Amino acid sequence: MSIIEEAVRKSAERHARQAATDPLRSQSRLRRVPPPPVDTSQAQRFQPIALDKAALHDNFILPQLQDAGALRAYKILRTRVLRRLEANQWHSFAVTGVTAGEGKTLTAVNLAMALAQDVNTWVALIDLDLQRPRVAEYLGMRSTRGEKGLSDYLQGNATFENIVYQPELERLAVIPNFSPMLNASETLTSPRMSELMQALDAETPRRILIFDMPPVLAADDVLAFAPQIDGLLLVVAEGTTDRNSLRRAKEVLAEMNLLGVVLNRSAERLDAAYYSYSYAQR
Ligand SMILES: Nc1ncnc2c1ncn2[C@@H]1O[C@H](COP(=O)(O)OP(=O)(O)O)[C@@H](O)[C@H]1O
Ligand SMILES: [Mg+2]
Repeated sequence: MSIIEEAVRKSAERHARQAATDPLRSQSRLRRVPPPPVDTSQAQRFQPIALDKAALHDNFILPQLQDAGALRAYKILRTRVLRRLEANQWHSFAVTGVTAGEGKTLTAVNLAMALAQDVNTWVALIDLDLQRPRVAEYLGMRSTRGEKGLSDYLQGNATFENIVYQPELERLAVIPNFSPMLNASETLTSPRMSELMQALDAETPRRILIFDMPPVLAADDVLAFAPQIDGLLLVVAEGTTDRNSLRRAKEVLAEMNLLGVVLNRSAERLDAAYYSYSYAQR
């Protein structure tokens, strides 16, 4: 059994035990009090953008994703993430992982889409993989008419309104990045980045902020940025993420709030899904 499978199994067991010994906890997991209706009258309209349906389809992005198992898995992931955010009163998290190619960006984009499909949930997806920005590409957004992105804002060449886009999905805002930046971790702790965070936090209705980030072992970006967010969603891929890297990542992440672990590319299609998701409570 791989270290990932083992972690997922242990986490599931721990939850089953907690539910069995704590009736209140198990009850609250079943009987969820619905949040109060969101006042949308103040919602800011951002630059409308048409997403490229062919690109969404080719990149396996909602709503053009066809695989029924994957669709179901994203819905489960959405529900669990929402509950965990609500339970902790968290509003922001980074999607990260251990190494490249585990499916972090795919997970971040589809989770943002799935969350924004929920009528009460307002979301902002921010491409914070400054050296390898891919969110725009996955959504089929191109800077053909000189559209501005995050790097322009961070360099002082664009305003907040210039870089936030609103695809057809009303409750989703996207901040793409069209050009890679060096010195990423310095940039992430810059006053300009703090200004961006303040602008995002001031949005009404309050949005869940999802930051697509590089892997923790590739650079110190996640470490540098962690104080500005509530938690991390870790994406690991079966067959890609090796045991030693996972162990090193665990040490790096020891001080951070873990929202959960997404097991991507699982050979075992649990509930006919190729994603499984586990709460990874410390
Ligand atoms: N579960 C999956 N099934 C099929 N393809 C996947 C899956 N997860 C990721 N991919 C593909 O793998 C590649 C890398 O994914 P990406 O999300 O960009 O990785 P990361 O952001 O972790 O570097 C992309 O082409 C993506 O479409
Ligand atoms: Mg990525």
